[in-house]
Amino acid sequence: MTSSTANYSIGNDRFSSEAATWDSKPEVVESSRLCLRSILSHSSTHFASLSTSRVLEIGCGTGLLTIPLAEHVESVLALDTASGMIDMLHSKIRTEGLDGKVQAKVKLLESSDDEVLEGRRFDAAVSHLVFHHVPDMSQLVKVMWGTLKQGGRIWVSDFEDDGVQAERFHPKDKHAGVERHGLKRNVMEGILTQAGFDKVEVFESFKMDKTVEDGSVQSFPFLAMTGVRS
Ligand SMILES: C[S@@+](CC[C@H](N)C(=O)[O-])C[C@H]1O[C@@H](n2cnc3c(N)ncnc32)[C@H](O)[C@@H]1O
Repeated sequence: MTSSTANYSIGNDRFSSEAATWDSKPEVVESSRLCLRSILSHSSTHFASLSTSRVLEIGCGTGLLTIPLAEHVESVLALDTASGMIDMLHSKIRTEGLDGKVQAKVKLLESSDDEVLEGRRFDAAVSHLVFHHVPDMSQLVKVMWGTLKQGGRIWVSDFEDDGVQAERFHPKDKHAGVERHGLKRNVMEGILTQAGFDKVEVFESFKMDKTVEDGSVQSFPFLAMTGVRS
């Protein structure tokens, strides 16, 4: 079993069972809202034309980013390894009448030639709150590079590893399947550059307050990690 295959089954079990209650967690709803706000605030400088963009999303969950993002782009192909999450998103797509605009599929994307993509190439490949679960981030970033058109942009969003305090982002009983307690700026800059991205930028996109295990409220910085396939 490869490490990514191992992650598939862990992620599928854990996140499928959390899917029904996922949207009741205020902090995940809030972090998706802030992620979208950050993407939109950079749309004129970082995206050639967001409204005509075909977007690939990795790790969409129940679609907390997918559904509101769809309003601003041409289409979204949303992938997640957890079938429970995709079931929830399918139901939202039906309710919102977004069948022509948003597709959601259960998939661990390991190649940009995977049939799930139907040969398509995308204007943007986005992912929010997923990479801290991914065993081999370099491999996933390379795959995302391969899914993009020339001029396409990657936008990875996740919380920052800014020291030991980052370990409090997850309660201890949620540590299984957490590969790292946040992302480090220099590591991500290296990974995007190594994958072939140009105009690589890693910056704090927002801060989010979260109640942690001891009941106190801690502020967690989130990073946006972006670059262009030239
Ligand atoms: C913390 S949740 C975030 C979900 C969603 N992005 C949100 O912010 O609500 C992480 C999600 O990533 C999915 N996931 C983990 N590794 C993945 C991978 N390599 N490819 C696709 N999905 C993945 C999990 O199944 C889970 O739904």
